[in-house]
Amino acid sequence: MFVHPFDDHAGLRNTQPDAGNQQAVWLANLIQAINGEYSAIACYEQIARRAPSAEARNIIMEIRDDEIRHFQTFSQFYTNLTGRRPQPQISEACPSTYKGGLEFAVKDEQNTVDFYRELARSANSPAMKQAFLEAARDEQHHAVWFLYLLINIR
Ligand SMILES: [Fe+2]
Ligand SMILES: [Fe+2]
Repeated sequence: MFVHPFDDHAGLRNTQPDAGNQQAVWLANLIQAINGEYSAIACYEQIARRAPSAEARNIIMEIRDDEIRHFQTFSQFYTNLTGRRPQPQISEACPSTYKGGLEFAVKDEQNTVDFYRELARSANSPAMKQAFLEAARDEQHHAVWFLYLLINIR
């Protein structure tokens, strides 16, 4: 958007505060995405340890590898934008049983699909838009895999 630098209308010199605010909102969402991936990496390791079979454990660890990839990609975006490394924090508690973990993961993955699609829509660079669309597709697969594991508990 073109902004005239000396627009004195309504006493505002320009609309930089709005642009700055948009950037702040984007950064807050990016941090939320980074913390979500960071939390999933930790939680899926715990769920994998409780898995009843090697097949289940492998599926969960492959999903965890995807989350590590997402975490690295989003962290790089953060560093590109701020010049700093993110300081990730666990944003969600991980349930303490295998079944509880799977139920939590299905819902969390589904919610993350929606969140990432929104971020892809509001991203202001093609690289970030593409990364969030691809991550949304990965999370959709993860949701289905966790559901598969959930219905195969016996
Ligand atoms: Fe992810
Ligand atoms: Fe995921």
